Amino acid sequence: MQVQGKIVVVTGAAQGIGRALCERFHRDGAAKVIAADLSAQGAADAAEAVGGLAFACDVSQADEVQTMVDRIEATVGPIALYCSNAGILERDPDFDDAASASEASWTRSWNVNVMGHGHAARGTSRKGPWKKGTNAKLKSATHPSITGRNLPSPHAGDHFCTSTSKIANIVAEQAE
Ligand SMILES: NC(=O)c1ccc[n+]([C@@H]2O[C@H](COP(=O)([O-])OP(=O)(O)OC[C@H]3O[C@@H](n4cnc5c(N)ncnc54)[C@H](O)[C@@H]3O)[C@@H](O)[C@H]2O)c1
Repeated sequence: MQVQGKIVVVTGAAQGIGRALCERFHRDGAAKVIAADLSAQGAADAAEAVGGLAFACDVSQADEVQTMVDRIEATVGPIALYCSNAGILERDPDFDDAASASEASWTRSWNVNVMGHGHAARGTSRKGPWKKGTNAKLKSATHPSITGRNLPSPHAGDHFCTSTSKIANIVAEQAE
């Protein structure tokens, strides 16, 4: 997809891959890069570096994602590419025991690494399906696993695959 002249949103933009995506889209001529992150300061720094706009947004919160999308589309214009890059990695306390992580840790991982993409898909689709060839969503292609954990048991694996493929289908159907 060519981003020249287009509006691009990158979540998890404060550092790492997200920051690099912002810089690359800016170099490729995006009309406006929107840097979104849990860290307001990090988002502001990333946006400043590319002449873009910053949003403090927790992608695990549906209302925050929706508010951000609505505000961008009302004040900047239609989003051509939404990069759902924000993610967290919480390691199992005992690396060899996939049951060693706390319930709270699983919930945090699920809410950011799974629902973050769901909120993105729903938030950007409210005004009707995105049109092939005009706009797209990109889920971080490098996620090792959707929750960032080892999932050795067949049961956990099935659950993981089902959930992941649902999200992947939503994203793929609406991307170019
Ligand atoms: N770096 C790697 O080797 C690697 C490998 C596999 C997958 N990934 C995935 O790629 C993505 C980016 O990786 P990275 O290494 O740049 O990560 P990183 O930890 O360096 O940066 C992640 C960014 O996301 C932000 N963030 C975290 N939770 C958030 C939330 N709820 N709402 C909004 N922003 C939030 C953080 O503040 C941070 O700026 C992640 O989804 C990660 O899981 C990275």
